[in-house]
Amino acid sequence: MSSDTAPFGDIDTSVPHSARVYDYWLGGKDNFAADRALGDAMVQAIPTLPVMARANRAFLGRAVRYLAAEAGIRQFLDIGPGIPTAGNTHEVAQEIAPDARVLYVDHDPLVLAHARALMTGNSKGQTEFIMADFLEPEKILGEPAFARTLDLNQPVALMLVAILMYFHDSDDPQGIVKTLLDALPSGSYLAVSHPTADFDPVAVRAAVDAATAAGITLVPRDRAGVEAFFDGVELVEPGVVPLLAWHPDESIAGEDPDTVWYYGGVGRKP
Ligand SMILES: C[S@@+](CC[C@H](N)C(=O)[O-])C[C@H]1O[C@@H](n2cnc3c(N)ncnc32)[C@H](O)[C@@H]1O
Repeated sequence: MSSDTAPFGDIDTSVPHSARVYDYWLGGKDNFAADRALGDAMVQAIPTLPVMARANRAFLGRAVRYLAAEAGIRQFLDIGPGIPTAGNTHEVAQEIAPDARVLYVDHDPLVLAHARALMTGNSKGQTEFIMADFLEPEKILGEPAFARTLDLNQPVALMLVAILMYFHDSDDPQGIVKTLLDALPSGSYLAVSHPTADFDPVAVRAAVDAATAAGITLVPRDRAGVEAFFDGVELVEPGVVPLLAWHPDESIAGEDPDTVWYYGGVGRKP
């Protein structure tokens, strides 16, 4: 076994992992041979996947900026933050509101290891990390770090950015989103981004097949499928749209929204 595939603590590097494949597309260094092999196989199907990953990351930044600067949100529950890179939720939020508090939740031990080292936050705000599974929302809500970080008398933004596609409808991701939102007070927000096959079903099918063959579930959803996550939530204008069309800033002005095959939206719990 080469050092590139040897177990790394409790991290199995011999099979691809979603966070590390995404890190590879973003140009990060925290990925292994198996992650790069799957990343390359998916790029064979969709050559612009790394561009789309960066566009997704930029959507995260615009959504956090909107939430902190325009909606006045000071608390974030970010599930599936990925391996820390530039523009993490706490950095964007705390730049606008130094007292912002962020609780990250991820199930990947490599994300945890990096998060502990990097996501230290600043002295006024608070940044915490728990290792837990999206599929176990009650466990997330019951974690001591949840109560320690988030004050449920104040609104919280639930960030589900590029994570919901890892779950089949049979896992009931919609019900899990509802369980999480039910625990948050009125005035809380939900931000979602999600890949879709609407723009090129054949290419996306080939990418999904490559992921499935490597043991990673990927479920593209159409616009109605993504809107369904916002059931009971009031969508902020312009609703669920291709990411490049959601509150575009000058960095993406003039870009064709149909080139990034992800939908995104932000909504407010009444
Ligand atoms: C594509 S990355 C998204 C990173 C970041 N949210 C962004 O959009 O830039 C997906 C993240 O979801 C995490 N993830 C996948 N399945 C999960 C689960 N069942 N529970 C918690 N985290 C999960 C992965 O470990 C990874 O960090």
